[in-house]
Amino acid sequence: MNPTEMTRMKPQILIARAIFPEVIAKLAQHFDVESNPSDALWTQAELTHKLQGRQGVFTTGGERIDAELLAACPDLKICANMAVGYNNFDIAAMTAAGVLGTNAPDVLTETTADFGFALLMATARRMAEAEHFLRAGHWTRWRYDMFAGADIHGATLGILGMGRIGQGIARRGAMGFGMKVIYHNRSRLDAATEAECKASFVGKEELLRSADHLVLVLPYSASSHHAIGAAELAQMKPTATLVNIARGGIVDDAALAVALRNKTIAAAGLDVFEGEPKVHPDLLTVPNVVLTPHIASATMPTRLAMAHLAADNLIGYLIHNKPLTPLNPAVLAL
Ligand code: DGY
Repeated sequence: MNPTEMTRMKPQILIARAIFPEVIAKLAQHFDVESNPSDALWTQAELTHKLQGRQGVFTTGGERIDAELLAACPDLKICANMAVGYNNFDIAAMTAAGVLGTNAPDVLTETTADFGFALLMATARRMAEAEHFLRAGHWTRWRYDMFAGADIHGATLGILGMGRIGQGIARRGAMGFGMKVIYHNRSRLDAATEAECKASFVGKEELLRSADHLVLVLPYSASSHHAIGAAELAQMKPTATLVNIARGGIVDDAALAVALRNKTIAAAGLDVFEGEPKVHPDLLTVPNVVLTPHIASATMPTRLAMAHLAADNLIGYLIHNKPLTPLNPAVLAL
């Protein structure tokens, strides 16, 4: 068989966004690859068109894989997300179509927990507000209450969503900063994990009422849509801070902007937004919010590990029939 015939026999995959060249090179050893080095943002129609005849797609969390796309791409067998979150996948439709979904868990846990804590500290200690003030040339003298914020050490840390990242934040708070940690989750952790994280399970209302700093780390789904809206914000302490590193849509951003303006809560730190990369215009005009562009997992080693894991899922499934982190393993039994 000549090299051209061998290339023709390789499964075909699409890489939907620009990614690390070394990961593309690894995939090219196994697949006929179309990549996107210019990082063009394809429409749904363009994505569907580019997937014709392809068995796999490397996605990065923003590409929507739904029933309509699946019906139009009958050769597709696997969608490998370079993200732990997978709310861009309609998993039920993928399972019905016999298409495997994979995500990239674990490799980003500690990095994302680091960022959650960094955002919490920047928010509580008003770092962004203070920096803007300084850059604008307003710093002319000391004042007893200048940018006085809230303490982190010894405060009560509330965590909504206690998966791997939530547990990482709990450990940082309890062991690094002597915080009292309370959490709410769909299901309570086992006693050993609670003890390891020094975290106590509470109801959602108690979490809202008692937390000095509330961090959101729950997955997005129809049931977590606007889990924090006007009613929930009203239950929080006026001195409390809220940090969202989970997904846009979990917080009602319009209601949050009102709460921040009215000082219903003291401050917020947001890495994710409803309809991102658009940001609710009212959030851009309130001072007491720290805004970052969805970068919680963004360190070079972690992003590289995430990309390798997505690539290894494509290779694992299409070449060896053994994906590493399947989301809908029922497809493997088909
Ligand atoms: C994830 O992995 O879900 C993150 O939000 C992407 O950075």
